[in-house]
Amino acid sequence: MKVFIFLLGCILIYSCHAEPAKDTMKKALKAPNPSIGNVKLLVQRKRCINCHDMRQKLLGPSFIDIKGRYKNKPEGKELLMKGLLEGSKGKWGNVVMFPQNNLSKVEAEAIIEWILALK
Ligand code: HEC
Repeated sequence: MKVFIFLLGCILIYSCHAEPAKDTMKKALKAPNPSIGNVKLLVQRKRCINCHDMRQKLLGPSFIDIKGRYKNKPEGKELLMKGLLEGSKGKWGNVVMFPQNNLSKVEAEAIIEWILALK
């Protein structure tokens, strides 16, 4: 019996400690990656703005136009991730976008989510 109570105590203590740890982990995963910070700045730092403007077509389509084309596609996010990381051609014109391999996957995802949420 004593052993049982001892074990029960251990489980209780463990679960009290484990729960907040799990929550913190979840929050950390959901929170914007601190190395990314503001996505708009990231897009500037990564030189996307050499070819993309928010609203005007430059060499590449504007971010608003990209959003317009993909916002209602359920697989839009995956398509854009693929275009960004593996390169894109023939979807918007004759200019090719080479794979943006100076982006981590997390950064690419943050940028795509940001584009799709533009107003
Ligand atoms: C050298 C110019 C250039 C740079 C730099 C560039 N892009 Fe592009 N981007 C393009 C062009 C051109 C297209 C259109 C390609 C096509 O017609 O398929 C494009 C297309 C895209 C698309 C749409 C892809 C699709 O599947 O429809 C996204 C999203 C995008 N760019 C994001 C970015 C981001 C984010 C960066 C910075 C990390 C970036 N681009 C940097 C030229 C560029």
